[in-house]
Amino acid sequence: MPVITCIEDLKRLHKKRTPRMFYDYAESGSWTGQTFRENTEDFQQIRLRQRVAVDMSDRTLASEMIGQPVTMPVALAPVGLTGMQCADGEIKAARAAERFGVPFTLSTMSICSIEDVAEHTTKPFWFQLYTMRDEDYVRRLIQRAKDAKCSALVITLDLQILGQRHKDLKNGLSAPPKLTPSTIANLATKWAWGIEMLGTKRRQFGNIVGHVTNVSDTAELGAWTAEQFDPRLDWKKVEQIKELWGGPVILKGILDVEDAKMAAKVGADAIVVSNHGGRQLDGALSSIRMLDPILQAVGDQVEVHLDSGIRSGQDVLKAVAMGAKGTFIGRAFVYGLGAMGEEGVMKALEVIQKEMDTSMALCGKRDIKDVDRDILLIPEGFSGSWQA
Ligand code: GLV
Repeated sequence: MPVITCIEDLKRLHKKRTPRMFYDYAESGSWTGQTFRENTEDFQQIRLRQRVAVDMSDRTLASEMIGQPVTMPVALAPVGLTGMQCADGEIKAARAAERFGVPFTLSTMSICSIEDVAEHTTKPFWFQLYTMRDEDYVRRLIQRAKDAKCSALVITLDLQILGQRHKDLKNGLSAPPKLTPSTIANLATKWAWGIEMLGTKRRQFGNIVGHVTNVSDTAELGAWTAEQFDPRLDWKKVEQIKELWGGPVILKGILDVEDAKMAAKVGADAIVVSNHGGRQLDGALSSIRMLDPILQAVGDQVEVHLDSGIRSGQDVLKAVAMGAKGTFIGRAFVYGLGAMGEEGVMKALEVIQKEMDTSMALCGKRDIKDVDRDILLIPEGFSGSWQA
């Protein structure tokens, strides 16, 4: 077994073990990949301030996200097709999150269904909602999340239509994979993945297949999105969904100050500053660049979280120091899952925890709740003077 010391190690194993179409799906940004790349590069622009001769004993990363206790301010983000990275992937990731003490968010476009994940875990998880044209289906989906005792609804606002990821089209992405000469050739090199996948019955979009009628192809994410996602989603609908749900709501995909103000106005419990991991609007600014302007505008009205670009505990520390109450990791846990299943997700969380804990100490802090901008060195003009 190789020695895993960082998220990059897990990524290499994930790439080796998982069919190309699913690795590429996770790893892609849209179009040129500019926003996808800048999400990580911009984190590196911010530096940490080394402090010495400070008592480093008794450190803690424990905090809260939307009032729920977390071992560290890192939730697992909703990621479509997680159960294709590894058999029963959502169940495994949810179990790891539960063991670790951080929130797990189940995607609408998951392979394991809401009910299935609830049955195989003991603590409530969060459910991510895509709004569909079929309002009755959305109502039923919300009710299913309520019945499964999900403790927050994460409404994604930045994917009514799909940003194009070239590789998904070229690879013919689908769940389960369609057998063509090229997928067969690739699957033949991924036998460990294949054996596990043959051993599970969870190989289709579990929240959808069997719950909808009149759909031409439930196997293709692209086709499903184009046909079923609601292009008319607006703030009024967001309010209606919030009412229907009746519990904590997190609005994900906020990258603009005006949208952040609207999210605060409709009474969201939290917002996630996000560009969907660089998978939607290519050319948008990175999440970490937009964090400060959004905090300035609504930080005193709504809890602000961040995703897109986090690959280390140092990244989490930077976002929290800037003022985010919580963060989400997507690819960072998916690499772990693809590499080593549930234990790989544990490993990803442990890596991030250790990096965050040690870096916090080296910045002279012992409690994540005391971490603030004082530990950061931010280049002048980092959030930019972009002209709208
Ligand atoms: C779906 O959320 C995707 O980014 O593919």
